[in-house]
Amino acid sequence: MTAPLLNVRGVETYYGNIRALNGVDVEVHRGEIVSLIGANGAGKSTLMMTIFGKPQARTGSIFFEGKDITRLPTHEIARLRIAQSPEGRRIFPRMTVLENLQMGASLDDLKHFKEDVEKVFTLFPRLKERQAQRGGTLSGGEQQMLSIGRALMARPKLLLLDEPSLGLAPLIIKGIFEAIKKLNKQEGLTVFLVEQNAFGALKLSDRAYVLVNGRVTMSGSGKDLLANPEVRAAYLEGGRH
Ligand SMILES: Nc1ncnc2c1ncn2[C@@H]1O[C@H](COP(=O)(O)OP(=O)(O)O)[C@@H](O)[C@H]1O
Ligand SMILES: [Mg+2]
Repeated sequence: MTAPLLNVRGVETYYGNIRALNGVDVEVHRGEIVSLIGANGAGKSTLMMTIFGKPQARTGSIFFEGKDITRLPTHEIARLRIAQSPEGRRIFPRMTVLENLQMGASLDDLKHFKEDVEKVFTLFPRLKERQAQRGGTLSGGEQQMLSIGRALMARPKLLLLDEPSLGLAPLIIKGIFEAIKKLNKQEGLTVFLVEQNAFGALKLSDRAYVLVNGRVTMSGSGKDLLANPEVRAAYLEGGRH
């Protein structure tokens, strides 16, 4: 088996004296969609942010393409072509859609700019219609499209998505998840997805991990976890089906 694209080994992350991650092991291979599911406060966003070096892991290591990135500053991690759509989307509200996309483009790669914008507009035609509109005036779903689009402008090898479905209507969520699937199938993009929406995430994913109180308690194929009674009881019963 080839080495994982992303390899998280025994990571512990603290906020002051509070340990938010307690020895996390996660692997993401090229071409996979892998999700991390877990309740609010489990440490999902902390893992995403730790991969990006902010905060840094206190213990353990993170490897990307075999390179140890645990102690790298965030901008150097981004330069390795890891891109993220953070929790809450974090688009620039006063900038237009097009300007937001410009902010995501890597400076080394401006010659691709037009082509890459067109790709984003093909994936999310809604953004094309609204390219001159300010980000802050977009709907939640459109802001999520923009946040993903901006991350794609960096031509990532690995796309990290933190709760893309949060606060969106079911039909909009479906569209977002379909776009992620399309990117993975058509472009071979590798995706690491964090979600409280366990049903949607597991259906979409090749593999998944369950995070409880900063620890991975279960892992398996998306299909197996969907069928797992413990997962069903904790994350799926009464949820979105
Ligand atoms: N900036 C912070 N300072 C202190 N504690 C934090 C901070 N961010 C998150 N935490 C705590 O770390 C734990 C994990 O949070 P988080 O990673 O945001 O969980 P999730 O994304 O799974 O909801 C929670 O107990 C949360 O209160
Ligand atoms: Mg979170």
